[in-house]
Amino acid sequence: MDSKFNSDKIIIAIDGFSSTGKSTIAKALAKEIGYRYVDTGAMYRAVTLFAMRSGLINNAGKVDNAHLVARLPEINISFAIMPDGSQHTLLNGEDVEEEIRRMDVSSNVSSVAAIPEIRHALVRMQQDYGKEKGIVMDGRDIGTTVFPDAELKVFMTASPETRAMRRLKELIDKGQHASFEEVLANVVHRDHLDQTREESPLRRADDAIDLDNSDMTIESQNSWLLAKYRDAVARKLSKLQQGE
Ligand code: DC
Repeated sequence: MDSKFNSDKIIIAIDGFSSTGKSTIAKALAKEIGYRYVDTGAMYRAVTLFAMRSGLINNAGKVDNAHLVARLPEINISFAIMPDGSQHTLLNGEDVEEEIRRMDVSSNVSSVAAIPEIRHALVRMQQDYGKEKGIVMDGRDIGTTVFPDAELKVFMTASPETRAMRRLKELIDKGQHASFEEVLANVVHRDHLDQTREESPLRRADDAIDLDNSDMTIESQNSWLLAKYRDAVARKLSKLQQGE
C-alpha cells in the first residue's frame, strides 16, 4: 500500500530499441513533472568503460566475464546534476558522461549487458531508485524485469535508418567521427544482441503502450507522453479511492 505522501506518484518505464530517443522524452517528462530520471543504459555503459579500462575486454570484443563479475564491488555508479540541469554519469566519482557515449563503448556494451551477474547487480540498484516512486527510468527491461508493476510503460520504436541518423548526428555534434554505414550496422547489431540475449532480453511488456516516433516531432512526443502520464495518475488515484 502506498503511503499518503506518495499516493499520486508513479513509476514510468520507458523501454525500446537503441537510439529511439527514449532518454530525450524521459528527461523532458521528468523535468516537467518534477520526477527523478534514471538512464539505465548509462549504467551498463559505465560498467563497460570500467571493463575496457581494466583490460577485461580484448580487441575482438571478448569480455572476461569471470574477472569483471569478481570486480563488481569496485564499481560505483552514481549520477550528478550539473549547474545547467543536465545529469552526468559518474564512475567511481569520475565524470564519464562523454566517454561512455563513444563508439568503442557502444560496440562493447551489449556483451557486458548480457552477463547475468552484471544485470542482477544493476537491476537491484535500479529497483532501489524506484522505492519512493516518482521516477522515470529508461532502458530495455524496465517494464518487464525492473518494474513489472510500473503504472505507465511505454515501448519505443523507430526504423533502424531513422535511429542511425539520430545517433550519427549526436556523435558529430560531439565532434566524434563515424560513417552512417558504421552507425547503422552498430544499431542493427545491438538490436539483434539485445533481443536474443538469454538474460532479460529486450521485449515489449504485454501492458506497454507503443510509441513509433519515426515521423513525430519531439514536441508531439512530449505532449503524448504527458497525456499518458496524466491518465496513469488518474487511473492510480481512482483505484486507490475504490480501495483496491
Ligand atoms: O540505451 P543505451 O543505448 O545507452 O544502452 C546501452 C546498452 O545497454 C544497450 O546496447 C543495451 C544495454 N541496456 C540493457 O541491456 N538494459 C537496459 N536496461 C539498458 C541498456
